Amino acid sequence: MTSTNDNLVDRIQDLKKQRNAVILAHNYQLAEVQAIADFAGDSLELSRKAAATAADVIVFCGVHFMAETAKILSPHKTVLLPDLHAGCPMANMITVDQLREFKAKYPGRPVVAYVNTSADVKAESDICCTSANAVKVVESIDAPEVLFVPDKCLGSYVASKTSKKIVLYPGYCPTHHRILGRHVMEQKAEHPNAVVIAHPECTPEVVGLADAVASTSGIIKYAAESDQKEFIVCTEQGILHRLRKDNPNKKFYSPGSLNVCPNMKKITLEKVLWALEDMVYPIEVPEDVIRKAKAAIDGMVAI
Ligand code: 13P
Ligand code: SF4
Repeated sequence: MTSTNDNLVDRIQDLKKQRNAVILAHNYQLAEVQAIADFAGDSLELSRKAAATAADVIVFCGVHFMAETAKILSPHKTVLLPDLHAGCPMANMITVDQLREFKAKYPGRPVVAYVNTSADVKAESDICCTSANAVKVVESIDAPEVLFVPDKCLGSYVASKTSKKIVLYPGYCPTHHRILGRHVMEQKAEHPNAVVIAHPECTPEVVGLADAVASTSGIIKYAAESDQKEFIVCTEQGILHRLRKDNPNKKFYSPGSLNVCPNMKKITLEKVLWALEDMVYPIEVPEDVIRKAKAAIDGMVAI
């Protein structure tokens, strides 16, 4: 880390104390951003941490829907997203109107919304899920058929693990879609002893090539606990810093080079500092949306 970064880090730590702030970072954030976070983790862990913290201010180093989730769970805290343009293209693939149309087409089916959705969409859904608990959430629903939004890949993976009928919505993660089966096969040819781990946002083709399928924190846990020494990691590249730091004696390979989420990388140390200096950008969610979306998130957390 450079001295400029050291200086930034010192100023962030000072202001963090002054503001009584907590910094949360998703596992795909830049290494230097993860390094200054009080907690790094997956969507589910961060939602829980956000709810449990006693801080007055949450600086969310992630994408917009994650900061909204933190606001829903901590409506009296100030939640800051250091770059308002850090959105999730998959979450933006379904609006509340599109969800209403989808529901009208398949009436009477409960809606399971992946946490990668706007607060409005969550408010219009019966229950949320993350990639870590999607199978459990779907299994817990007392209906033979559910609507799953917006990720058709996570939805297909869940469908392969449950006897419930799942109606898929055609959303997807552009970053995970750039990981192709042939990228995985190339890595397997180069590293024949490596274990393939995939995030369920990958295409069914890539998931089909995987030895294990897990959320970002699930991947971190799997790699730490495994006796294997080499891993081909099919998800966003940001996770590799943490995997390599936690497991210096193991090797991690990335399939292809296009698996970077540009939105996650919009958060920088400078923007975290500006967020704390100017208290930007506060995330606001209307009260009625908070109430309904919280019910959907609480349903998930209870499971
Ligand atoms: P996780 O819940 O596994 O961290 O995934 C969130 C996400 O946005 C993956 O693209
Ligand atoms: Fe959204 Fe995909 Fe980026 Fe995750 S990796 S935030 S799902 S675009």
